[in-house]
Amino acid sequence: SARLGLPSTHFYQTVKSSTEQRRFPYKRTTVAVAQRGGPVRALSPAMVELETASLQISQTPEWKALEDHVTEIEKTHLRDLLRDGHRSDTLFHEFNKIIADFSRQRVTSRTLELLTNLAERAKLREKIDAMFAGEHINTTEDRAVLHVALRAPRTKKIVADGTDVVPDVWQVLDKIKDFSDKVRSGEWLGATGKPLTDVVAIGIGGSFLGPLFVHTALRTDQTASEQARGRNLRFLANVDPVDVARALNGLKQETTLVVVVSKTFTTAETMLNARTVRTWLTTELGPKAVAKHMVAVSTNLKLVKEFGIDPNNAFAFWDWVGGRYSVCSAVGMLPLSLQYGFDITEKFLEGAHDVDEHFRTAPFEDNIPVLLGMMGVWNTTFLGYSSLAILPYTQALSKLAPHIQQVSMESNGKGVALDGSKLSFEAGEIDFGEPGTNGQHSFYQLIHQGRVVPCEFIGIVKSQQSVYLKGEVVSNHDELMCNFFAQADALATGKTPIELRAQNVPDSLIPHKTFTGNRPSISILLPELNAFTVGQILALYENRIAVQGFIWGINSFDQWGVELGKVLASKVRAEMHTCRTKDRNVSPTDGFNHSTTKLLNRYLEGKAR
Ligand code: F6P
Repeated sequence: SARLGLPSTHFYQTVKSSTEQRRFPYKRTTVAVAQRGGPVRALSPAMVELETASLQISQTPEWKALEDHVTEIEKTHLRDLLRDGHRSDTLFHEFNKIIADFSRQRVTSRTLELLTNLAERAKLREKIDAMFAGEHINTTEDRAVLHVALRAPRTKKIVADGTDVVPDVWQVLDKIKDFSDKVRSGEWLGATGKPLTDVVAIGIGGSFLGPLFVHTALRTDQTASEQARGRNLRFLANVDPVDVARALNGLKQETTLVVVVSKTFTTAETMLNARTVRTWLTTELGPKAVAKHMVAVSTNLKLVKEFGIDPNNAFAFWDWVGGRYSVCSAVGMLPLSLQYGFDITEKFLEGAHDVDEHFRTAPFEDNIPVLLGMMGVWNTTFLGYSSLAILPYTQALSKLAPHIQQVSMESNGKGVALDGSKLSFEAGEIDFGEPGTNGQHSFYQLIHQGRVVPCEFIGIVKSQQSVYLKGEVVSNHDELMCNFFAQADALATGKTPIELRAQNVPDSLIPHKTFTGNRPSISILLPELNAFTVGQILALYENRIAVQGFIWGINSFDQWGVELGKVLASKVRAEMHTCRTKDRNVSPTDGFNHSTTKLLNRYLEGKAR
């Protein structure tokens, strides 16, 4: 550890034994890494270096330089910065018709230089390369992170653990195409011989939010919606019986296909919903109907079989795809292809791949996901703005913020660095958002005059719908976009007491009507919204979130924080089962605290009444 400059709590040892080499056959020089008393993890030498690089990121001179630079930035105001046309030009970036305008960020050329130095110190380039090379960058689960392989063209080669994964990806994609073509054409029929026109996709978290986001975007695209004519796609995520009733309301069993989507096939909510819907199907159509009416998407084909779904009707993915990064796997591709046809959804993959390539190859100064990530780190960690508002000025992206909320907050909501040491700063950000202009009439008051919340405005040049009222010059879409432009400037420039006085605003109202301005935002403009550009948006955000995690030196690809609640829920479930079968209340000796015992008993009594 001394040679590698590591803390003395670590020891590193080259793996020599044949047993270890069999366990980790992908790299002959794999290094076993352990903290004293902790489990041994397998890391390639490159990964050891990367971990080392990020151990002390907040102790580096590059970090300190940015902390010092905050004082400089505090002396500036966006109102003045925006007067410099040259500065605005250098902060205006374009890639394949995506425009990202960073001029309303509280940054100067010096800030960008310092952020780039920090990214280099954090070995951002090496970490991006390690991700694309299939290194086990998810160190706590000893897994590669290769969702980018899900959208790679057939001709690409991407290796994980010694195997090119691209042929496997395409084998499943071909199976999805074949199956969805059969269902859509009526070649695959239900148990009573009727075509399956309705699909219910059961899944939660990453097995739900991404597909819902894409579906919501595509349903407004004219080409996609023509392909979906006569078809219905619904999602069932919550275990709430109200959500089950909503998802099944009005559907007929004989025309319904159920897709159970779960990476692990153990998620309590999904499995209970799957059993409930299976009963709904079989009560009407008999047990044999499962073969025609239920299919699965999972990495756990053993459990799929045990559930009663024929593995031939299962669509696999792999443990190198994180749940929240799985929309480009069968998780999203199957339900979306059933609804819109494979050709449309393939365009979505192409859009994501397009941005992946830009991310992988562009220099940092022109790399939009890298710049987005750097600004995220700057705003959150150095300027202390803990939230991010994602504000699409298109109703079609109304489910973008909920999806990104999971991708970002489950990825970067961490308190320790890669080596397990406590972070000396806050990583992660609180993401939320609503489409404009609805959000303006809801929470924008706080954004303008309350807390500072960095915003990301997303606008579309050409609407999917052209609504023109005769005699109106400014269309509905123009009106929407007027707000897109206005809000970013209102936040940046604000309104001063002097301006208010000039407008004869009474003195008593001046403090109330003053807008301090200097509130950062990014404006992203896309030519139109279609399957391809939706894929681009997805990859922009996924890669931006990875950049933030890489700079912060955390593991953005595990999610241990969701475990404790699940464990406690099982304990409550077991107790509830006992109380109900023995018709008794929870007793103070059952291991729950006083408050929970009391609440549980109120709940159990309420049900009995
Ligand atoms: O919320 C925790 C989580 O594990 C997510 O990461 C995941 O997307 C979701 O649950 C669903 O998991 P699964 O696809 O295994 O059912």
